[in-house]
Amino acid sequence: MRKKIVAGNWKMNNDSEQTDALLEDILAKKPEFTNAKIVVAPSFINLQAAVQKTHGTNIIVAAQNMHQSESGAFTGEVSVGMLKSIKVNTVILGHSERRAYFGETNALLAQKVDTALKHNLTIIFCFGEELADRQSSNHFNVVESQLREGLFHISESDWASVVLAYEPVWAIGTGETASPEQAQEMHAFIRTLLRENVGDKIAEETSILYGGSVKPDNAKEIFSKPDVDGGLIGGASLKANDFLGIVAGIE
Ligand code: G3P
Repeated sequence: MRKKIVAGNWKMNNDSEQTDALLEDILAKKPEFTNAKIVVAPSFINLQAAVQKTHGTNIIVAAQNMHQSESGAFTGEVSVGMLKSIKVNTVILGHSERRAYFGETNALLAQKVDTALKHNLTIIFCFGEELADRQSSNHFNVVESQLREGLFHISESDWASVVLAYEPVWAIGTGETASPEQAQEMHAFIRTLLRENVGDKIAEETSILYGGSVKPDNAKEIFSKPDVDGGLIGGASLKANDFLGIVAGIE
């Protein structure tokens, strides 16, 4: 059975006090049992406190990025060993903002994927087309290239550590959410790609999240689609009521 997951990507928001307050609010309002695994991804400086605050709960703390090298002269970067040393075992890789603003290519992401898997991290691997790709009906080719070049080299056993997150760039932060039908169409394409390249079992067991302007009022319909296994949430994850309203959309 595929895992249902709702992950909050807090991006470069919230200082340590605000992060504490948001986590307190989520912990206070979170139902005891949810149908979805809940993930929160604070910024690097807030990770250790978040791990401590969520210890013993069913909330998983993820990093928003990591460097592909295990150590060295990479000023300002954070390594997989540093994340593991504070008990962070999940990392978001390939977010469109890293691809766009920090030049992360499929080839570089393949290196990050290898380093994360070598150290047994769970990866939330992001990908998705630009508006121009969709307008030129090239979105399936773009998504296929991102997956083939960034991820398809890994071993069959490694797929158990991978969660996919399809995030059409034109829907991120814009309020222009993909329709449930658009999301399902792309997720079904991705699952077929998995089936054809890595086999039926991995295709069936790999969770594929949707991200891009998910809100409490659209989550349930998007998540109801057969190949949508949850969401990667940006803006709406910064308010506990909205984030938990999205979590409640998983049935
Ligand atoms: O990683 C999730 C994020 O890119 C989606 O952002 O604000 O459209 O939910 P948002």
